[in-house]
Amino acid sequence: MTFDLSKIVRPKIFNLEPYRCARDDFTEGVLLDANENPHGPVVKDSNREFVLNRYPDPHQVAFKTKMSELRNSQSVFKDQKITPLSADNLCLGVGSDESIDALIRACCVPGKDKILIMTPTYGMYSICADINDVEIIKVPLIVEDNSFQMNTDKVIETLQGDSNIKIAFVTSPGNPTGALIDIASIEKILSQWQSGIVAIDEAYIDFCSTGGSAAPLVNKYPNLAVLQTLSKSFGLAGVRLGVTFTSKDLSRVLNAMKAPYNISSMASNLVLKALSSESVQTMKDNVQEIVEERERVLKALTSMENVQDTQVGGLDANFIMVRIVDGGKGNNELSKALYYRLATESGVVVRFRGTEYGCTGCLRITIGTHEENSKLIKEFEKKLKELTA
Ligand SMILES: Cc1ncc(COP(=O)(O)O)c(C=O)c1O
Repeated sequence: MTFDLSKIVRPKIFNLEPYRCARDDFTEGVLLDANENPHGPVVKDSNREFVLNRYPDPHQVAFKTKMSELRNSQSVFKDQKITPLSADNLCLGVGSDESIDALIRACCVPGKDKILIMTPTYGMYSICADINDVEIIKVPLIVEDNSFQMNTDKVIETLQGDSNIKIAFVTSPGNPTGALIDIASIEKILSQWQSGIVAIDEAYIDFCSTGGSAAPLVNKYPNLAVLQTLSKSFGLAGVRLGVTFTSKDLSRVLNAMKAPYNISSMASNLVLKALSSESVQTMKDNVQEIVEERERVLKALTSMENVQDTQVGGLDANFIMVRIVDGGKGNNELSKALYYRLATESGVVVRFRGTEYGCTGCLRITIGTHEENSKLIKEFEKKLKELTA
């Protein structure tokens, strides 16, 4: 069976003609084509480097080209002769959250089609599926050994057994697990399942300890989508910019479907600067610092009484998971109490994840600055001692 995009994407969306504006053909002159206000914005800001009273560029080719170049230069698949990424492989969204929703809307017929997720995972896949009246099939990650790796054979069996599943979301590195999913296993799915899209959510990819982004593989596998965001390693969560890498065919569909001006001029101005060589170096330096701090925080926390000393999940993101235990077993009561006391008495906010599949007793902790982490370690020990005294 070969992959046929027209059978995956909803017919109306597959045949969509993208919204066109006069600005697609003419960008200069007396611009009286888009009902803008020639007097400028009501907010005066002399430091601004971008025009606000005109609609932003719907295509964002400069950013897409730079992003493709960055991921091409970092490719771990250079020995394979794959066509390099180019602007036509990208669709931009208002954060990955919009990219997730767009992919579901493109492929899943409400009330009929389904997505597959691997629990525990990021919550927005389920929320977007519910909003779109799309059923959710869950295949849990392997939690018994704390590895939180994918149950590949079970995933393939489930996908092949249900022709209404249109997207399989793989979060790699995982949230809240922090574990990069083995790329060979993902490629096995890509080769053996052709009736839907494998969407790898790589929000945390720049923090992974080994391997790298699967984005360059979109020109090898037409059934692959790779989602990235500028919210994490680039430190631009407030800007809201997500990137979907796909085959050029699927990218055409996603771009035709999106609101034409979804990326604001402010966002586009900032994210283009974020890809200058200087900013990319800063990103790498910050990632390096976070990776080093991640080691320190993990060591300090897992050496405390009532914290499981074996690693939970992976070390591939800008957070760690630790399991609060009592009598050797994950304990949600203690974990939740610690979470609450840390927030209310110490002013340190972490995330309680104890009710997620395989995460009993777990707290997810983002790696902060050196000072923030030191405070976390100190308060964590203090509050845990108070609670277990
Ligand atoms: C796995 C994962 N995907 C996507 C997102 C959302 O990213 P964005 O800020 O780009 O919407 C997050 C945010 O925490 C995440 O953890």
